[in-house]
Amino acid sequence: MTAVIHIEGLRKTFRTMRGGARVALNGFDMTVEAGQIHGFLGPNGSGKTTTLRTLLGLVRADDGRMSILGHPAPDALPAVAPRLGAIVESPQFFGNFTGRRTLRLLARAGGVPAERVEAVLTQVGLRDRGNERVKAYSLGMKQRLAVASALLKQPELLILDEPANGLDPAGIREMRDLMRELSTAGITVLVSSHILAEIELICDHVTIISRGQRVATGPVAAVLSGFDKGEYRVRVADLDRAAGVLTTAGLPVTRKEDHLVVADVGDAAWIAEQLGQRGMWVSELTPLTPDLESVFLQLTNSAPEPVPTRQVDEAIQPGTIDLGVQP
Ligand SMILES: Nc1ncnc2c1ncn2[C@@H]1O[C@H](COP(=O)(O)OP(=O)(O)OP(=O)(O)O)[C@@H](O)[C@H]1O
Ligand SMILES: [Mg+2]
Repeated sequence: MTAVIHIEGLRKTFRTMRGGARVALNGFDMTVEAGQIHGFLGPNGSGKTTTLRTLLGLVRADDGRMSILGHPAPDALPAVAPRLGAIVESPQFFGNFTGRRTLRLLARAGGVPAERVEAVLTQVGLRDRGNERVKAYSLGMKQRLAVASALLKQPELLILDEPANGLDPAGIREMRDLMRELSTAGITVLVSSHILAEIELICDHVTIISRGQRVATGPVAAVLSGFDKGEYRVRVADLDRAAGVLTTAGLPVTRKEDHLVVADVGDAAWIAEQLGQRGMWVSELTPLTPDLESVFLQLTNSAPEPVPTRQVDEAIQPGTIDLGVQP
């Protein structure tokens, strides 16, 4: 496997206006291999944008090593830039120009053949709206234009910071389809997002960041299985009696309003058998597999709290949870 992006021990502390220091990255590591759609997850303020800006030479790191497409970053960025497309800060386009004209100008400036303009307009679904002024575009259309501009050079690697921001569900879905198509075409995609269901649907690998440090990484399924407690939802008519039987058998049982949650279940059929033998017929036996959202909330300790409101920096201190998932 070739690492398309490799980051090791990245550190960045910002000086604040009042002369204080804000640690944005605290020894962050990340590896993205060729061909991945790699999701980059973390709560607000955890350091995602800072990581991407540092990687792209927009912010200077205090310490750490980075490489991009096999070359040291940021020093070799000018050499690799033609192979790289990135949207990190929302690009500002000139509102009076049409989308098509904007892309033509960008293509000319970047030495890209003019035919690419039509190709990327079609690719992002703007072909029929390309002659309208950018100021008349919706947020989603501006996002598409930004992606189109990043695709002009036919990059091998595409870096997108929160591409689904501000998109409606249909727009999010189209962005997802677009990323899949790009991936099928052989482009490696690194995409940051808060929309966990999105990441789970589209990404094959994830890196989760909390307070400037990596707290989990790996194939999505492996990260999730690290949190799989073998739990099942069990529904029977007599919950108390069933709970008694299963507890006696040594299984951890939690009694819920209208069902039981049973952990450490090796063989679900065994539960059905134990209860059935005692005349209790199971009406539901469902494995409770963790989803990315519950894993993310556990890892970053950012589960919603009613009162007081969680502050953006109150994510969990990394290193306090044993992940069971090796980077
Ligand atoms: N230029 C800056 N000056 C001072 N502090 C900064 C600067 N840029 C980022 N920070 C701080 O660094 C931390 C990480 O910010 P960053 O933008 O990387 O987070 P993020 O993970 O992208 O968050 P979000 O999900 O909200 O986009 C935050 O506490 C932020 O306030
Ligand atoms: Mg950000």
